[in-house]
Amino acid sequence: MSDLEALQHEALTAVDAADSLDELDRVRVRFTGKRSQLAVLQKGMRELSPEERRARGQALNAFRDAFQAAYDTRYQQLQAEALRSRLEAERLDLTLPPRRLPPGRPHLLTQVEQEMLEVFIGMGYRVAEGPEAEAGSYNFDLLNIEPDHPARQEMDTIYVDGFDDVVLRTHTSPVQARVMTTSPPPIAVVCPGWTFRADAVDATHSPVFSQVEGLYVDEQVTMADLRGTLLAFARAMFGHDRDIRLRPSFFPFTEPSAEVDVSFHGPGGNHGWLEILGAGMVDPNVLDACGIDPERYSGFAFGIGIERVAMLRHDVGDIRELFEADARFLARF
Ligand code: PHE
Repeated sequence: MSDLEALQHEALTAVDAADSLDELDRVRVRFTGKRSQLAVLQKGMRELSPEERRARGQALNAFRDAFQAAYDTRYQQLQAEALRSRLEAERLDLTLPPRRLPPGRPHLLTQVEQEMLEVFIGMGYRVAEGPEAEAGSYNFDLLNIEPDHPARQEMDTIYVDGFDDVVLRTHTSPVQARVMTTSPPPIAVVCPGWTFRADAVDATHSPVFSQVEGLYVDEQVTMADLRGTLLAFARAMFGHDRDIRLRPSFFPFTEPSAEVDVSFHGPGGNHGWLEILGAGMVDPNVLDACGIDPERYSGFAFGIGIERVAMLRHDVGDIRELFEADARFLARF
């Protein structure tokens, strides 16, 4: 009997000392499993007299009940502890400030292009697009640039290998030819897109750059309309106090042609003019080649370099910054 008491004491102490559910399970196997002392004592009952057997049976039952009660209590404690420590470990601090993901944004050139288009859309223009790999007939011939015209060399044309007369367009003007050959006046379109010239890269040149072409064709369109349109554009992009001036120039597809400057007022009373675009009245030969009657219609066209506008407006000194995708530069806009 005192053996059993000692055993019970040992077993209950082990139950209380178990510090995990796994350990508690090992204690259960050790004291009540098939190879436990309890099992041995149970087996030995066969050799006892009926009286002894009854007394032993009661004692063993009492041991088992006591063990079970202690086990259940400890089991619940350990489970509650396990839950508590899990909740502690997985605790969310809802007062922590969130990790900031820097918001993405369109590239500066995309932003400027979008703004430019919006200025013209506000004036009633619609957007038209054309292919970057362009037929020579649209890039040159319909625009009054004959095969031996020096402009073909001046523009440092990139030809597409394996195709007869396909070039990477050297300007967005072929899109005006495409629009004129397919739709009757009145026409008011702006044509944004990439353009290509075999130029060496430096601070102001890139073989890939982008333009917004504008074209307006209707009855009685005059140079005054061109001037007013470009003045409105310059003021929308650069500020309401800006002025523009037109300097005589030459393009094969416009007559007369002009280079257009926008005024600037720098710090310390420093002011002057910055060239922003080329423009002119569409040459009657071009209207005619595109199937529009030059006796009835006239029009103007202009081509604006998007990089140039972006650089002037945001004080970007080197065109390469616009193409190098340096996150520190891009984050400024
Ligand atoms: N296509 C000319 C260029 O790229 C710009 C231009 C467009 C000039 C339309 C006049 C009219 O240089």
